[in-house]
Amino acid sequence: MKDMYILGIESSCDETSASIVMNGTKKIATVISSQIDIHKNYGGVVPEIASRHHVQNITIVLEACLKKANMTMDEIDAIAITYGPGLIGSLLIGLEAAKTLSFVYNKPLIPVHHIAGHIYANSLVKELKFPLLAVVVSGGHTELVHITKHYKFEKIGGTLDDAIGECYDKVARVIGLEYPGGPKIDQLAKVGNSTYKLPVPLQDDSYNFSFSGLKSAVINLVHNEEQRGNEINKADLAASFQKVAVEEIISKVRKAIIDKKIKNVILAGGVAANEGLRSAMVNLANELNVDLSIPPMKYCTDNATMIAAAGYYAYKDGRVADLTLNSKSQDKLC
Ligand code: KG4
Ligand code: ZN
Repeated sequence: MKDMYILGIESSCDETSASIVMNGTKKIATVISSQIDIHKNYGGVVPEIASRHHVQNITIVLEACLKKANMTMDEIDAIAITYGPGLIGSLLIGLEAAKTLSFVYNKPLIPVHHIAGHIYANSLVKELKFPLLAVVVSGGHTELVHITKHYKFEKIGGTLDDAIGECYDKVARVIGLEYPGGPKIDQLAKVGNSTYKLPVPLQDDSYNFSFSGLKSAVINLVHNEEQRGNEINKADLAASFQKVAVEEIISKVRKAIIDKKIKNVILAGGVAANEGLRSAMVNLANELNVDLSIPPMKYCTDNATMIAAAGYYAYKDGRVADLTLNSKSQDKLC
């Protein structure tokens, strides 16, 4: 069969990215323009500023990607685009670029759900084997997804309130770390000890998570200590928080693996970069004798490589859109 080259475009938050991937598994070229340095001045992503930067960056990123791949648009077989979920203004910039290229060069337009992208980041590492359990942990999502074949997703559990990445970022902010705080908490946790007592969130029989209670407990603890004039040991607090947050994920993943007789597990989303979670997942996979796939760091946070990879399997599943395709700020994967 002829090789299929897909151009992926991602602009759902604060990264403008384009990538060309062959047959859903082999990266040809990727370009990512990150706005982190701009948004950190505001303590988080400012949607209007993000959209403006996507407008400025999108053509530059697309041209740079084709140049890096040494390819022309004529050699591209289809265009995969993150249609949602995400910041609506940001999504629209990528979508308009994708639709324009699809129209001008007469290429199929493939709509990709952002979380499907995070899941398929793993297919750039090794072939996905089914049935599998995807542990999706990002700034906007915390979900357990059961996948029985390519592009057939079934959500079996999710967060009842905050996403884990959102919780990391809020905790980081309250102890004075710059946005995005998740990676900084992770680094601090490595040098701290888990000495602060924090509540273990949701210990029930479901596959659901809860992070708002944990977040509030950290915020209250910091404020109480400040009022008493005590200094917080940031590294110890980071280690204490990370221990509970990771344990919350691991306990539900353990339950899902056992109940659903899972043999393959993948980690997906920005928080998959978390070293504490990565090593806890490795230990769990060894303990339960399941095959684990973790994306390399560069494919954990938002990028178009994962969108182009997912686009291949979405296309095989018959998912092609016409030019009426619209962005969706919110949309369920399944
Ligand atoms: O997947 P992503 O790039 O964007 C969304 O789709 O949400 O994830 C970004 C989130 C942010 O909340 C960021 O703080 C978190 O992932 N993150 C981490 C780490 N690296 C990124 N959280 C904890 N530890 C990390 N090492
Ligand atoms: Zn993401």
